[in-house]
Amino acid sequence: MKGVVLAGGSGSRLHPLTRITNKHLLPIYDRPMVSYAIEALVNAGISELMVVTGGTHAGEFLRLLGNGHEYGIDRLFYAYQERPGGIAEALGLAQRFVDDDRVLVMLADNILESSIHASVANFVKQDKGARVLLSRIEDASHLRHLGVPELDPNGRIANIVEKPEDPPSTLAVTGLYFYDQTVFDVIPTLTPSGRGELEITDVNNWFVSQQTMEYDVLEGFWGDAGESIDAYYAVNDFVRAHGVNKD
Ligand code: DAU
Repeated sequence: MKGVVLAGGSGSRLHPLTRITNKHLLPIYDRPMVSYAIEALVNAGISELMVVTGGTHAGEFLRLLGNGHEYGIDRLFYAYQERPGGIAEALGLAQRFVDDDRVLVMLADNILESSIHASVANFVKQDKGARVLLSRIEDASHLRHLGVPELDPNGRIANIVEKPEDPPSTLAVTGLYFYDQTVFDVIPTLTPSGRGELEITDVNNWFVSQQTMEYDVLEGFWGDAGESIDAYYAVNDFVRAHGVNKD
């Protein structure tokens, strides 16, 4: 299974900090943000990785990560996204890298307390399709900034709503997604959303419509450090106090 870390986008919710650097290079406790996503994937056994980034500071990723060997990556590839056209567009840039393999995608502003070993094993056993990782969040005002699944009476995902006014459950779709090769057939069929982006939620809802979407609910802390400046500091506080990516 290949790994793709998405570190493009505009980071506008963290302006003005992100006017002078890429969001994923900002510090989380004692390391640049992107290094936590890389650690999560490497600890889960992924050794071939692509980092997709964009904007004016892309070269700094090379300075930080180099050939990846120091981070336990066997082969590290890079792609450049010309404009922040959405998470699904950024993933599309990894098509030739993933080729006919499966892929675990992680948004570089997501931070996890616990290892994702078990989910990787679950996806290896999964016949086909996609798998998302959900996190339990009780606060509706927080859920309004995220993707939220609606579950059917059998507990399967019936639909995912992006940034819902009225969240249909107390679960959030985190920025970790497993896909089989068909994801690269779906991306070219998408049309830009109201915010002008190719949405990963539209990709995920395609798999829901095929009834090939599965999920796991994460144990422990999950944070999106790019959501707001307060979320950024909350994630920093958590990482400093407790550590992350624990087995
Ligand atoms: O963090 C989880 C949430 O991430 C999910 O609950 C949502 O369903 C999903 O849409 C996404 O929402 P955000 O509004 O947080 O996405 P954002 O635009 O902040 O992008 C998240 C990351 O994706 C960003 O840190 C880098 C990458 N990205 C984003 C865009 C728009 C790219 O690489 N290229 C892009 O063009």
